[in-house]
Amino acid sequence: MNILNFGPLLRLLLLFSHLSCFDIVVPVSAKGETRNVTTKDLPPGWDSHVMSTLREFRTRKKNCYSLDVDHKAEDSSTSVERVLLRASFFYGNYDNKSTPPSFHLQINGNNWTRVVTSMDQVVYQEMVYSLNSKNSTITVCLSQTHVDNLPFISALEVRSWDSDIYSNYTDPNYPLFFNERTAFGISRTVRFPEDSYGRIWAPDIDDRLEPTTVKVRSNSTSIKVNIHDNPPEIVMRTSAVNLNSSANITLYGSTVVEVPFHINLYFSEVMVLNSTQKRSFNIIVNDGYTSRDGTFQKYGPVVPPYGRALEVRIKNVITGILGWFKIEIVPTDDSTLPPLINAYEEFYIGDKLVQGTNSDDGWTGDPCLPSPFTWDWVACDSDANSPRVIVLYLNGLGLTGSLPDFSAMDALETIDFSNNRLTQEIPEFLGTLSKLSIL
Ligand SMILES: *[C@@H]1O[C@H](CO)[C@@H](O)[C@H](O)[C@H]1NC(C)=O
Ligand SMILES: *[C@@H]1O[C@H](CO)[C@@H](O)[C@H](O)[C@H]1NC(C)=O
Ligand SMILES: *[C@@H]1O[C@H](CO)[C@@H](O)[C@H](O)[C@H]1NC(C)=O
Ligand SMILES: *[C@@H]1O[C@H](CO)[C@@H](O)[C@H](O)[C@H]1NC(C)=O
Ligand SMILES: *[C@@H]1O[C@H](CO)[C@@H](O)[C@H](O)[C@H]1NC(C)=O
Ligand SMILES: *[C@@H]1O[C@H](CO)[C@@H](O)[C@H](O)[C@H]1NC(C)=O
Ligand SMILES: *[C@@H]1O[C@H](CO)[C@@H](O)[C@H](O)[C@H]1NC(C)=O
Ligand SMILES: *[C@@H]1O[C@H](CO)[C@@H](O)[C@H](O)[C@H]1NC(C)=O
Ligand SMILES: *[C@@H]1O[C@H](CO)[C@@H](O)[C@H](O)[C@H]1NC(C)=O
Repeated sequence: MNILNFGPLLRLLLLFSHLSCFDIVVPVSAKGETRNVTTKDLPPGWDSHVMSTLREFRTRKKNCYSLDVDHKAEDSSTSVERVLLRASFFYGNYDNKSTPPSFHLQINGNNWTRVVTSMDQVVYQEMVYSLNSKNSTITVCLSQTHVDNLPFISALEVRSWDSDIYSNYTDPNYPLFFNERTAFGISRTVRFPEDSYGRIWAPDIDDRLEPTTVKVRSNSTSIKVNIHDNPPEIVMRTSAVNLNSSANITLYGSTVVEVPFHINLYFSEVMVLNSTQKRSFNIIVNDGYTSRDGTFQKYGPVVPPYGRALEVRIKNVITGILGWFKIEIVPTDDSTLPPLINAYEEFYIGDKLVQGTNSDDGWTGDPCLPSPFTWDWVACDSDANSPRVIVLYLNGLGLTGSLPDFSAMDALETIDFSNNRLTQEIPEFLGTLSKLSIL
């Protein structure tokens, strides 16, 4: 339905890996102003061309992009197609106010996350989910949540994914949200094409590990990474090693996510060991306090392989008071060499994506969901799973010409068209809206 004539607006990065079997269709339906951003403070590893503009949303509580991902699988009998979706935000003080805003992000009518932007860092949010075989429209919305905090977006990426990785966690009905992905040996961001899945591996800019930890490059000429979640080889080439062989490597983390979350740790031995050398450690989560599913969280002993990658998957981690958690990599008694680590990933499984506003209502950009982020020119009924639009407040929106056919919106009870310049006669279908009582 094209009541409000939004153009294709965002600088949209549609990136498709070699695994792709997508066609690209144009984005529609978000209104906003393009702003230029100085990229002199842009961190390395980001495309300054992409980050040099953003789209700012001054009007309306909620603005959306709809991407029609036409997934023509080569073999139509294959299972559901998965996509990686990433929204990126580089504030760069574009408005000279030195106040990076925060706002909410929604995906297909479901809460995604609160975005807290930064003066000089690129903030991004990643998720993976399976396209519905009947409807492959992806809708990303930005909602203003504070006065003076104008939502903006710098880039949106959609990437077709091999459906194997992270599959232990993936029931196709549930989305996977990434909180963090850090590679401790690298000093710059690693992304496509070094990661053929297009994931972003960030360096540990905060130097979170023990001060006695150093980066050690592997002596192996190649590292096999064909393990379950396929980390990029470059991430496995350099490890963080604690020089003090009796000390732990400790990772503290905090998260606002209230559900149990999952962690993948990646390891690779940096040198050929002789018969008297041994590198071996246990991984202890939250001092061994049980996870949500009742397991005592100790993994090991872990012996990193040389020339290969090893992945340890830690499920259902819960945070302690104040949202903190702790991972300790503790050398075993017989270990002669200090502990090491290559990379860390943290993610959680979201709620089942609800169906979205009843598709009879034909909107792009879910108008009703998630509550309370309904569009400010509609009102919806209270059906939690598939709400219907019951009121249209189109007062003074500068609508001109004739009305489109919205006869399918047969749950409408009230329509306010006042203060517009609609020139054509009242269409007949308005008479078919059986619940319409106020026009
Ligand atoms: C942004 O920069 C381009 C050229 O770099 C310029 O043409 C355009 O007018 C600028 N836009 C604004 C809003 O300053
Ligand atoms: C911000 O300040 C710079 C330099 O003073 C100026 O060129 C730019 O137009 C200002 N931008 C806005 C949005 O006020
Ligand atoms: C979405 O997030 C907002 C803000 O945190 C919250 O108030 C609301 O209840 C959430 N809605 C759903 C359906 O979870
Ligand atoms: C993850 O899934 C793979 C493939 O189904 C399976 O081989 C592996 O054992 C699973 N790993 C865990 C930790 O469940
Ligand atoms: C090595 O770590 C142990 C345990 O934390 C500590 O007691 C010792 O002082 C450390 N040694 C050095 C040289 O830092
Ligand atoms: C290493 O971790 C273990 C297990 O939590 C703990 O008992 C030990 O005190 C830690 N060692 C140091 C030096 O912090
Ligand atoms: C790499 O190999 C060289 C010689 O073979 C050795 O001296 C060095 O210690 C090794 N470095 C690592 C990190 O294994
Ligand atoms: C193993 O390597 C270590 C360190 O290079 C060395 O001190 C030790 O003598 C070697 N042991 C054997 C059996 O070669
Ligand atoms: C798919 O969803 C979009 C947006 O929610 C809607 O406009 C479209 O009609 C739906 N298509 C089908 C075939 O259900």
